[in-house]
Order: sequence, then structure tokens, then C-alpha cells
Amino acid sequence: MLVLGIESSCDETGIALYDSEAGLLSHALHSQVAMHAEYGGVVPELASRDHIRRVVPLLREALAAGKCSLDDVDAVAYTRGPGLAGALLVGCAFAEALAVALDKPTIPVHHLEGHLLSPLLSATPPVFPFVALLVSGGHTQLMRVSGVGQYELLGETLDDAAGEAFDKSAKLLGLPYPGGALLSKLAEQGRPGVYELPRPMLHSGDLSFSFSGLKTAVLTLVREHAEAMSDEFRADAARAFQEAIVEVLVRKSLKAMKQTGLKQLVVAGGVGANRQLRATLDDEARRRRFRVYYPELEFCTDNGAMIALAGCLRLQAGTPAKAAGPFAIQPRWPLMEMAAGGPN
Ligand code: KG4
Ligand code: ZN
Repeated sequence: MLVLGIESSCDETGIALYDSEAGLLSHALHSQVAMHAEYGGVVPELASRDHIRRVVPLLREALAAGKCSLDDVDAVAYTRGPGLAGALLVGCAFAEALAVALDKPTIPVHHLEGHLLSPLLSATPPVFPFVALLVSGGHTQLMRVSGVGQYELLGETLDDAAGEAFDKSAKLLGLPYPGGALLSKLAEQGRPGVYELPRPMLHSGDLSFSFSGLKTAVLTLVREHAEAMSDEFRADAARAFQEAIVEVLVRKSLKAMKQTGLKQLVVAGGVGANRQLRATLDDEARRRRFRVYYPELEFCTDNGAMIALAGCLRLQAGTPAKAAGPFAIQPRWPLMEMAAGGPN
């Protein structure tokens, strides 16, 4: 079974072909980062228009790279939500129209389920059940994943997401959008321990997170040095921020491993690309004898491959989300609604 996947929830257009037997055949991606950079963040209207421009050329590219034709496609998966309404509408309308033309079904996919399952695209994938740390620009959650659609929320952020905290702190340090990856590069030049920033909810006793206070602490630090924001200061501050957020993410993940007794941890979402997070988790995993799985770097941030994969697995499991009519996008959509037994 060959599934075409379409991702357009935010500022990346992704198209991929996933075969249930052969695995990922091809994927094509266009990032709008350069276009939004001059505005300091994603401009939704520009994002929608760019998705429209990119979707057909990317489809052609994916088909050519996968040596397939549209006639080979058995189902069209697309991101129904969560995300920007206009951006989602582009992928949804394109998928629905294509499916009508091909006389094939569509599979609406939850964007976070795509992230969650993306490590299954690796050569050595994890096996169910596992704990997942989902850390993206919009979400920070710890989950117990027992199978496709079998998710139990263990804890989540009460305010900002980890990626959002990275991006906002990066902006405060004068880095251009999207700052997360740049902040982490800057942090590598910083000295540890020069500034001490709070570790919110580290000792809360549960698996909840909160990052808005950390962002405020960065703001205070920046204000104190507003007169002379030297390169050295910015690198040391970036280092302090990264150390604080990584420690919280790692401690809570360790607590989730202990609480569930599971031996595999999957890290998904854009912040999963962070090198300090990876190194610290790998260290702890060696010591505590569990394994950590990351998606391939190219599948950490938004892409079409994870959407094609999630669509294919849902179809195979016989539990795709119900197509609630054409243009039924869901800009706000809690992942738990996709868990077995939940409404979808
Ligand atoms: O999963 P993703 O591509 O999009 C969402 O679904 O949100 O994640 C994007 C987030 C952004 O906040 C970005 O700054 C962050 O992931 N990010 C990073 C790194 N690379 C991307 N954060 C920290 N370190 C990185 N290396
Ligand atoms: Zn994402």
C-alpha cells in the first residue's frame, strides 16, 4: 500500500511517499524560514500562499524521486491539525481534490502523531511500548505510547512550549527567527555556570512543565546587560538558558521512565534536534540502562514523511481519523482525542 503524505501546518511544505512494505520511498520539503525571517516570525497569510506555490512542484519532485506515478498511490494522507488554519486548508484542499481525481481515500492525520511516530522511520526503530518526549514549537508533552493511537498523557507544559521558550529567548538575545537552533549554536560558545537561571517545576513532584518564568528570567538578565550586550554575554546567557531547559526536560523524562518502568524513550519534535539535550539524555540512558531513540535529524522538524507514515499506520490499524467532510481542518486539536476510545 502506497500512501502519499502532505504536511502544511505551519512554515514547511512537505510531500512524501511511504510504502507499507518498502518503507519511505521519497520525500520533498520546502522551508519558508527565509521568507518569514524578515518579519521575525511566521506570517500566516504568507505561509498559506507559499504552500499553494510549492505543493505541486514538491509533489512532482517526490513522485520522480520515488519513481512512482499518481496511479500507484492508494491513499492521500494530510495534516488536518493542529496548526495555522489557512496553511492547513491548503494541504487539506489539495489532498481532498487529488483524492477525488484519483478515486482514492484521504486520511486526515494529527500533526503531533506524525512527530510521535517519526522515529519509526529510522533503520533501527523503537518497539511499542515506549515513553515519548514530544518537544516542538507548540507542544511539550510526556506520553506513554503503547501502540498506534494508544497514548496516555503523563505530563505537559502549563504555559509555553519548550521550542517557544527557545525561540522567545533567542529573540531576546538578538537572534533572528527561528531562534531555537541558532540559540543552541551560540550556547556552544558560552561558558557553563556564568549565569544561573531557574529550573521551573523541577521539584514539582509531577511530570508538568512550565517555561514562561524561564523566559522572563532571560528577559531580566538581558535588561541587566542592556547597556553592553557583548558577544560573550550573549553566548554565556544562551548557555545558561539551554542548561536550565535541558535539565528540566531530562529530569522529567527520567522521572517518566521510572514511573512507567519502560526501557525506551523516544524524543520527537524540533527541540529533539538540540545537541545538548541529546548528549545529556544519552549519558543518562547509558547509566540507567535504557535506550533513547531520535528521529533522523531531517525528520525532527516538520516534514511530509511523518505524515505519510502516520497515515499508513492508521490505515493498516483500521483506525484512521474520520473524514469529517471536505475542508474539515482542526487548527486546535488535542492529541488525546486521537487516542483509542477518544472522539476523533
Ligand atoms: O516540530 P517543529 O518543527 O514544529 C512544530 O511543530 O512546532 O519544531 C520547531 C521548534 C522551534 O521552536 C525551533 O526553534 C525548535 O523546534 N528547534 C530547536 C532546535 N532546532 C529546532 N530548539 C532547540 N535546539 C535546536 N537545535
Ligand atoms: Zn511540528
